[in-house]
Amino acid sequence: MAERILHKSPSGSVLHHLTDYAAARREFNWPAARRALVGGEDSRLNMAREALDRQIECGRGSQVAARFIDRDWNRAEVTYTELKGRAGRFANVLASLGAGRGATVATLLGRVPELFTVGLGTLEAGNVFCSLFSAFGPEPLRTRLELGHVRVLVTTESLYRRKVAPIRNTLPELRHVLIVRESSGSDLPQDTADFAELMSGASQEHETAPTRDTDIALLHFTSGTTGRPKGVTLNHAAVIAQHATSRLVLDLHPAEVFWCTADPGWVTGIAYGLIGPLTCGVTLVVDREEFDPRRWYRILEEERVNVWYTAPTAIRMLIKAGTALARERTFPHLRHLASVGEPLNAEAVLWGVEAFGMPFHDTWWQTETGAIMIANFAACEVLPGSMGRAVPGIEAQLARRTARGGLEILESFDETGEIALKPGWPSMFSGYLEDPERYQASFVDGWYLAGDLARRDAEGYFWFIGRADDVIKSAGHLISPFEVESTLMTHPAVAQVAVIGIPDPIAGQAVKAFIELKDGFEPGEALNRQIMGHARRLLGAVVAPREIAFKETLPRTRSGKLMRRLLRARELGLPEGDLSTLEGRE
Ligand code: WT7
Repeated sequence: MAERILHKSPSGSVLHHLTDYAAARREFNWPAARRALVGGEDSRLNMAREALDRQIECGRGSQVAARFIDRDWNRAEVTYTELKGRAGRFANVLASLGAGRGATVATLLGRVPELFTVGLGTLEAGNVFCSLFSAFGPEPLRTRLELGHVRVLVTTESLYRRKVAPIRNTLPELRHVLIVRESSGSDLPQDTADFAELMSGASQEHETAPTRDTDIALLHFTSGTTGRPKGVTLNHAAVIAQHATSRLVLDLHPAEVFWCTADPGWVTGIAYGLIGPLTCGVTLVVDREEFDPRRWYRILEEERVNVWYTAPTAIRMLIKAGTALARERTFPHLRHLASVGEPLNAEAVLWGVEAFGMPFHDTWWQTETGAIMIANFAACEVLPGSMGRAVPGIEAQLARRTARGGLEILESFDETGEIALKPGWPSMFSGYLEDPERYQASFVDGWYLAGDLARRDAEGYFWFIGRADDVIKSAGHLISPFEVESTLMTHPAVAQVAVIGIPDPIAGQAVKAFIELKDGFEPGEALNRQIMGHARRLLGAVVAPREIAFKETLPRTRSGKLMRRLLRARELGLPEGDLSTLEGRE
């Protein structure tokens, strides 16, 4: 039997929102969760209103909503009332630009105050908010801006010059680019406007758009196995689940200090870096800088973080930096640690106890689920290595696809199956942009299939096994092998390419590309470096391969499909499996 850890919050600290798991599951239902949030059955629902207006009505207007920390440890604070004013101004800016309701507004920004203003203002105006990952290179950005029909983009001067200017003329639908200046005085690039100037000319009085539960609020891009990214839409109703899980799983209480380390370019950074926690009336800590162990321990201590939501790659980097660093600080305010995004190994869970006196609580979800679906709860036993149990209101099963295209729900325990979720929770994605077939194909026999394999024990704890497809997860970023392959193919020397994930002790997986060269090109260091540079420039460092290997030929099926599975098996020294369809075999 696995070791179990129960972390009791110090006495005098908060009462947990969920103490009895079975009772919480029995008592929970979504209509009641909606009422608890919005009030009456027929009141209109809007993410920004729940995050801002509702908090101000509860008397939290002068409380700090977010505290931004810059490189030199300057702290910029914004209260709920101030944030509401800024959001209102931006909503009015959108109206003045003629960006009608429903038009998509994107940001390409780091963790800066303007991202919060634009996100909440866009939602308040009834427009769709899309936060793009600022480490993407021009190629992934172009695909996403195009597919998202982005009308307004807010970015910084340097990001614009490096990443957007080179592709701007391929994006006729991108009407307005607003620049957040990093320094005053410089001339703005052509065809852009000054964000601050537009804001100061706008009124902060704005009435929140009367959005419906089913109106699209957020657009997030995620990766599948094909080249085209998936544009996942979440409706305003998602706030019901984001709020419920911020309470039940992250255990947030009003006025607590909460730090979510996720980048706003991914769903976690919006659902739990912005919306969910604000609907709970917390103070968010936002670090503008990149990961640094000393800095992170200092933030946990000095900002008096109560609840911390981070990711396995970061935890592994902290472990690597040594527990002694953690011991240089004390964390008397810290009371709950949670993790998401990749498998959290048992050692990392236990290291939490060593470094902070409490385990990390793993949580599982996806962009498509819009909120946490499976979790270890603050007041319940943690089984290190397990993702936890289904959240109240969520029916999660393990399933196997049958040969006939149906679904078999696994009844017995300890069998491996694909995670299947029963639709009906309010943050379930409402579509893949311009790909209704792919959306349809995600559901089989009335269940949403997540593409992840897991086991479940008799108590209902889920244990992650792996992905059911070729998608790569590196440092928490979901990467489509095909998107990387397509970009590598644009290099003049590349004839064929296959991309796989190889194990990496810190990032979980790293991207490796196998390349077949065109005639007349010689494999070697120089070409390797050249292709690598090409990939980094177009894709950005996060998505570009870490390693390249040249191959005479790549394994393919007789029908011409790349056998990434076989490359992976060979790379890792695993059994090669069924090779009956391999090309060139007798
Ligand atoms: C994929 C979803 C979850 C929001 C941020 C990422 C993997 C997620 C876990 C976990 C093992 C996990 C899955 C999932 N994943 N959480 N606790 N243990 N794997 O959202 O980018 O859509 O990625 O991340 O493979 O399908 P995403």
